[in-house]
Amino acid sequence: MSTTADELRNEVRERYAQAAAAATSGHAACDCGGGACCEHVDGTSGYGEALYDAEERETLPDAAVLASLGCGNPVAVADLHEGETVLDLGSGGGIDVILSAKRVGPSGTAYGLDMTDEMLALALRNAAEAGVTNVHFLKGVIEQIPLPAGSVDVVISNCVINLSVDKPAVLTEIARVLKPGGRVGVSDIVAEDHLTADDRAERGSYVGCIAGALSRSEYVAGLEAAGFEDVSVEFTHEVVDGMHGAIVKATKRAGCC
Ligand SMILES: C[S@@+](CC[C@H](N)C(=O)[O-])C[C@H]1O[C@@H](n2cnc3c(N)ncnc32)[C@H](O)[C@@H]1O
Repeated sequence: MSTTADELRNEVRERYAQAAAAATSGHAACDCGGGACCEHVDGTSGYGEALYDAEERETLPDAAVLASLGCGNPVAVADLHEGETVLDLGSGGGIDVILSAKRVGPSGTAYGLDMTDEMLALALRNAAEAGVTNVHFLKGVIEQIPLPAGSVDVVISNCVINLSVDKPAVLTEIARVLKPGGRVGVSDIVAEDHLTADDRAERGSYVGCIAGALSRSEYVAGLEAAGFEDVSVEFTHEVVDGMHGAIVKATKRAGCC
């Protein structure tokens, strides 16, 4: 029997609820019941806290660092400015929301959006412990962002878009919520173009951030179709054969949506 989109999304939610529970009880988030959760299949690095420098990690609560399940450091590449509004899609334990809140300062705002209650609870605790007050955590799915059109300067995301069951909807929603000239700085897993969907599924699971990854040309075409220009996809580190942690950047096209 084939898995429906709803079943797949529920599987993702359950996996990351377990990861949040592990981080809350002081364990690394991927000690979450034996299955992969955005973790390299042989357990080596390429995901998580190692992607942040020591200075950044020192400013964060331990639980936020333990809950880090990203595949890059989007805050480091997003070039955030004082006073900007930032939205982190799939904010997990809140690590990138907290770092963004510090970058945009008290006159700016950092939103985190996640569908998993346990992650939202963990993120709220971590933000309180970090002492940041210019943050808001929203419950919802990244395919239907609960924010008005033209309300955000920068959208970031860390290893989440590959988990979406409707990637065109996510990219269209990002364009909708961005202000004119708004920008995207996303870390994600991206496949080399020659890998078919079956090749990707052979290399790792959907909940483990591998099987659902777009290829580089699919990412570029998807962003251009959604209304972006100056799109770039830069591979940073290989996580399994032919699949990479990548930095994806784009700017909302003038006159778009
Ligand atoms: C791999 S973790 C990454 C968390 C965080 N960005 C980080 O770097 O640690 C994926 C997160 O995305 C959330 N997520 C996955 N698919 C989602 C969707 N369609 N809508 C909202 N949240 C989603 C999960 O609940 C989980 O917290």
